[in-house]
Amino acid sequence: MGSQNESLLGGEFSSVYNQRIPKKKKSWIMFVFESLNFLLVGGLLFYVYSETNASPVGKKYSHGPSKKNIIFMVTDGMGPASLSLARSFKQQRDNLSIDDILELDHHLIGSSRTRSSDSLITDSAAGATAFACGLKSYNGAIGVNPDKIPCGTILEALKLQGYFTGLVVTTRITDATPASFSAHVDSRSQEDLIAEQQLGDSPLNRVVDLIIGGGRCHFLPPSIEGGCRADERNLVEEAQAQGWSYVESRTDFDYLQNGDNVTLPLLGLVAEKDIPYDIDRNASQYPSLAEQAKVALTALSKASEDSDQGFFLMIEGSRIDHAGHDNDPAAQVREVLAFDDAFKQVLEFIDETDTETIVISTSDHETGGLATAKQVDPAYPQYLWYPEVLLNSTHSGEYLTKKILDYANKDDVQQFSDFISKEILEKDMGILDYTEEELSLVKNADKSNLSYALNNLISIRSQTGWSTHGHSAVDVNIYAYTNSKEIRKQLLQGTANHGLLGNHENTEIGSFLERLTGVDLRNVTELIKDIRHAPSASELAERSFEEGSLEKRHHLRDL
Ligand SMILES: *[C@@H]1O[C@H](CO)[C@@H](O)[C@H](O)[C@H]1NC(C)=O
Ligand SMILES: *[C@@H]1O[C@H](CO)[C@@H](O)[C@H](O)[C@H]1NC(C)=O
Ligand SMILES: *[C@@H]1O[C@H](CO)[C@@H](O)[C@H](O)[C@H]1NC(C)=O
Ligand SMILES: *[C@@H]1O[C@H](CO)[C@@H](O)[C@H](O)[C@H]1NC(C)=O
Ligand SMILES: *[C@@H]1O[C@H](CO)[C@@H](O)[C@H](O)[C@H]1NC(C)=O
Ligand SMILES: *[C@@H]1O[C@H](CO)[C@@H](O)[C@H](O)[C@H]1NC(C)=O
Ligand SMILES: [Zn+2]
Repeated sequence: MGSQNESLLGGEFSSVYNQRIPKKKKSWIMFVFESLNFLLVGGLLFYVYSETNASPVGKKYSHGPSKKNIIFMVTDGMGPASLSLARSFKQQRDNLSIDDILELDHHLIGSSRTRSSDSLITDSAAGATAFACGLKSYNGAIGVNPDKIPCGTILEALKLQGYFTGLVVTTRITDATPASFSAHVDSRSQEDLIAEQQLGDSPLNRVVDLIIGGGRCHFLPPSIEGGCRADERNLVEEAQAQGWSYVESRTDFDYLQNGDNVTLPLLGLVAEKDIPYDIDRNASQYPSLAEQAKVALTALSKASEDSDQGFFLMIEGSRIDHAGHDNDPAAQVREVLAFDDAFKQVLEFIDETDTETIVISTSDHETGGLATAKQVDPAYPQYLWYPEVLLNSTHSGEYLTKKILDYANKDDVQQFSDFISKEILEKDMGILDYTEEELSLVKNADKSNLSYALNNLISIRSQTGWSTHGHSAVDVNIYAYTNSKEIRKQLLQGTANHGLLGNHENTEIGSFLERLTGVDLRNVTELIKDIRHAPSASELAERSFEEGSLEKRHHLRDL
């Protein structure tokens, strides 16, 4: 048999992969392909061009061509399917037409390949280090290269150039994404050290001017309520003594007056650990991501008003990832929509400012292997999924798990059963058609699998599919917007010309920012080479959490 037959019969993957197309056929196929490509790219170019032309073209930049604001947004764990899910959910919820799409959808320019140096599936630490340092590193690496040598970050480089800098997140500020821009440690679990570096314990001294997020825990000693440091240092008091202003409650946050009443540096730690999922968030206790972003944008632009340089701001929708780990579709759609609101806030800022400003928004990776389809029956499936099921649920699996674990009357079998059926399933989740079997599954679940059991009820009914509780290797989207013709020109080039149009390695996003701002990260690498980044003996000990414990599951969930 000839080789053609072998490959038709399955053959080797590589032979099929490398198979040459006969010449005549190739040119025809290539013609169609190239025409499609031309139309697509041309359409995109035209689209982005006309979109951005809608705003301040020809506007005079009052601070000369070099002054720029750079806004970098991260949707942690958001893959393309999250967009489809959230978009259909919103259309259903608000009775919108099919062309009423998300704000992000209007600004798609490309996609990013996300692998790390040591795995085809990255974690958030290596993912953010790729953006911050423009290089691939290993899973767990925070601002260090594969040899554990600290690498200069775009935030540090811009601070050295005189930019004001800020970090806005919904998880702990010491978590992987914000840490990778503002700290250098061998392992993401060194959060105590990350907190110290974020406040200025670095050869560069302080590089962050504004912090708003969760994560008081690693700034406070264990002797103080909500503190979880391994030592007795109170970094909040130390920071205040060094001139940081500090906010930790909603009331404090409201004093910031949307950013008009901010004294930099600002340390805003508005939650002990994570800020609650948007679906659970009590607005009189916690700000939204859009509110946080608004404060940061106003404060940083006011601070840089009379400066030759603008600001660098990183904003992360951190917990899209957590909802993916939890396989919680009801929580995830609200996280994506909350991020979309923040993105909108950023666009409004860009349209109003006189300073050349760019926003780039992308994900470090996808989480959950989400699909907007799930086969729930052995028979050939119907082509359907049901966003309205997500609408009925009013809390995350995380929140309801805590509510169930906190329920006091578990010993009264009948009362507990009623509590699960009436209160949790019917009232909180809007599920009326649960079976006896499902009810008993929830009643018998323990800490380790209760949230999975609850979320699964929703995934099955909405026909939302998940393939993992971890991350996946699927490419993620890149979105961008700018008010500057010059920046737009650079942005809308392909890889060969160092732009971000089309498909890219995640490191190219970091390199793009480096080139755009004219900094050289290697110079910063030289300046920070002596920063302490290895874990201490006690940090190593602290990290050896026990196999199978809840602590471990929660720890893993965050990765
Ligand atoms: C939804 O929108 C359509 C078209 O705008 C309108 O006809 C319909 O009454 C709306 N339905 C509800 C429930 O508001
Ligand atoms: C501005 O912030 C300070 C605290 O830093 C607060 O005392 C003051 O009331 C705030 N002003 C307004 C108008 O909220
Ligand atoms: C939200 O928080 C406020 C202030 O702490 C509280 O009074 C209120 O009961 C909370 N609302 C809900 C629904 O928990
Ligand atoms: C959602 O809740 C409504 C009212 O409680 C109920 O009628 C409906 O069946 C629920 N939908 C789903 C998909 O469970
Ligand atoms: C959850 O864990 C418990 C205890 O290990 C086990 O009995 C139960 O079958 C598990 N439930 C699910 C839904 O996995
Ligand atoms: C980096 O450092 C080199 C050597 O000190 C210097 O010549 C160069 O101007 C620096 N580049 C930038 C962009 O700061
Ligand atoms: Zn994750």
